[in-house]
Amino acid sequence: MSQLDSATARVAPLARAHLPEAVGVLARAFAADPMLRWIMSASPAPMERGAQALFRFSCEVRLQLDWPLFGSFAGERLEAVAGVTALEDVPWPDSLRAVYDDLAAVIGPEATVRLERYSAHADQYRPRGPHVHLGVLGVDPAAQRLGHGRALLEAVEAWSDAQPASIGVWLDTENPSSRAFYERCGYRCVGATSVDGMRIWCMFRPRGGWSMV
Ligand SMILES: CC(C)(COP(=O)(O)OP(=O)(O)OC[C@H]1O[C@@H](n2cnc3c(N)ncnc32)[C@H](O)[C@@H]1OP(=O)(O)O)[C@@H](O)C(=O)NCCC(=O)NCCS
Repeated sequence: MSQLDSATARVAPLARAHLPEAVGVLARAFAADPMLRWIMSASPAPMERGAQALFRFSCEVRLQLDWPLFGSFAGERLEAVAGVTALEDVPWPDSLRAVYDDLAAVIGPEATVRLERYSAHADQYRPRGPHVHLGVLGVDPAAQRLGHGRALLEAVEAWSDAQPASIGVWLDTENPSSRAFYERCGYRCVGATSVDGMRIWCMFRPRGGWSMV
């Protein structure tokens, strides 16, 4: 049972001032993640440095393209972060390209190819209609199982529901334990694949939940 104290915890959009804290939360949340480990095993950079560069990029995408970047707080402390990809693709400003180039320079060419290959594999299982993509969701390990993950998912679902064209929320995960979390929160596996032996599960929750389909 989740134990989040609703009097002291809150979900709120993150601003640029939260960037270092958000990157730290995500790097800790994903320290043992199979996808991050697979990407970084092709990199000369230390895992921690690669994770920082990857999650900095992930947060910058949302901040620079004005896509949702939500945080879940306990008091003033940021405990969890979720980043959303909106329905329409938009051109990247040069400033965002520069952050991607920094990421590629940190992790190196082989790991960059892995990052791009993994996305292409998961993309095969996107729903056909316009949908919101949950690009990243991570809870600080010390604050897991307290309800932050569910609270952020609900914020993402509410944002999706507010987009008239959105048919629901789609995501991929490479962690069997996270797959169980999403199933618990009403998501279903709509496709599974592997890249170099790493499993990728694609999960979807239609607008209003599966009982509405
Ligand atoms: C997966 C993750 C986001 C879950 O967030 P969380 O805050 O720990 O989860 P919550 O406390 O909100 O749990 C919500 C429900 O899911 C259940 N749950 C949480 N983690 C679970 C797990 N690993 N296996 C099964 N159920 C799980 C909880 O028991 C709770 O159920 P309940 O409300 O019926 O009691 C978090 O553990 C995490 O950041 N993991 C590492 C990074 C990651 O894998 N991110 C997702 C991949 S993109």
